[in-house]
Amino acid sequence: MFEYTLANGVIVSPGKKTRTGDLGVKGEKIFSPGGTVTINLKGKSCVYPSLINTHDHLQGNYRPAVGPKKGSFYLTWLPWDNDLKASDTFKERSQLSREDLYALSGYKCLFSGVTTVNDHFPQKLNSQILPTLPIRAFLEYGLAHECSSYDLKWGDGVELEHKRAVQNKWPFITHLAEGFDEESMHGVEALEKYKVLDDHCLLVHCIGFSDEDIKKVAKAGASVSWCGFSNMFMFNVTAKVRKMIKAGVNVTIGTDSSATGSANFLAELKFDRELYRKLYGEDLPAKNIFEMCTINAAKAFWMQDRIGSLDEGKLGDILVLKARDDDPYENLVNASMQDIELLVLAGTPVYGDMRFLDIFGGELPPAYTQIKVGKNPMFVKGDPAGLYNEVRRKVGFKKKLDYLPFEPLQSSDSTQ
Ligand SMILES: [Fe+2]
Repeated sequence: MFEYTLANGVIVSPGKKTRTGDLGVKGEKIFSPGGTVTINLKGKSCVYPSLINTHDHLQGNYRPAVGPKKGSFYLTWLPWDNDLKASDTFKERSQLSREDLYALSGYKCLFSGVTTVNDHFPQKLNSQILPTLPIRAFLEYGLAHECSSYDLKWGDGVELEHKRAVQNKWPFITHLAEGFDEESMHGVEALEKYKVLDDHCLLVHCIGFSDEDIKKVAKAGASVSWCGFSNMFMFNVTAKVRKMIKAGVNVTIGTDSSATGSANFLAELKFDRELYRKLYGEDLPAKNIFEMCTINAAKAFWMQDRIGSLDEGKLGDILVLKARDDDPYENLVNASMQDIELLVLAGTPVYGDMRFLDIFGGELPPAYTQIKVGKNPMFVKGDPAGLYNEVRRKVGFKKKLDYLPFEPLQSSDSTQ
């Protein structure tokens, strides 16, 4: 069991005043500072709850993205699915195993500071594979693909999946109003018809919402996953996010898969902020974005008692970033993959620079490997370099994936 203190860090947590001080971890949880290992951050690092991505498809994170023909956009997601299946991206990724694709997605999360993500697929397809990832892709959710007549019939049907979510205190997650055809425009009414519109609902996209829909969703206490990049790429329109925030909807952020979405979560934060500025001529404060991807997302997942803030007793899900900006919220939103110093999942470091190895008693544990990000040697859970090499071997050329911030070493100069 680990017991350590991150000392003299800028501690940033939702609902709390930012302070410079110490954060303790004992076992899986955040605890009062103590233990025999202390890492002194010397006021040069910001310590946040690690980030939460409320929407992704972990089998689909292969690049480049596939979208509509130049100058045109889709009306619904359906033609995209056809374009994807006919694309070179799909052909190329078909040479990889499902395990490869899921492992890549795990690292897409990890290298962008995300330790909790929802994989929007039915548990029948992902329950064996999610526990193998280096981050938390949880299995406790109800789902529908989309509440419309052309949905993909995932799970056990809207009513049963929702009922299971309510009984277990899980979220019920579904794409909704992802488009502008007649049905997509009436997604909220479909939920009402099923009698499932409530605070268990985590509704993804919601770009076809009317003002009335927004009011109903706010009143029900439902959450929304805003996937700005994917929406603009496919439809050139996104959710009415300013109205949603003003109406009190619990807004969170999702990447969607990188086959339509941004490269990773850090890229999504920047894109969404810029998009908001373009749409509304005003800034979406970095502090709001921080809350969307921590405490709001934890609420949407019905996990607010465990994750989303750095309160004592919650799980030690921690992200440490270089402090490049005096404003810690700006520091987060403007961060790049190279700014991550440490990522912790339930008390256990899963990625970090070598000074944090002291937490492991100074030695690289057996399930970890070493990579170089920029000039910095970093330890990481699993073997992403081996995975990257395997992907390249299978596709037959030196594939670049923009969410992997390193080049694998050649076997002759490997330190592993
Ligand atoms: Fe999606």
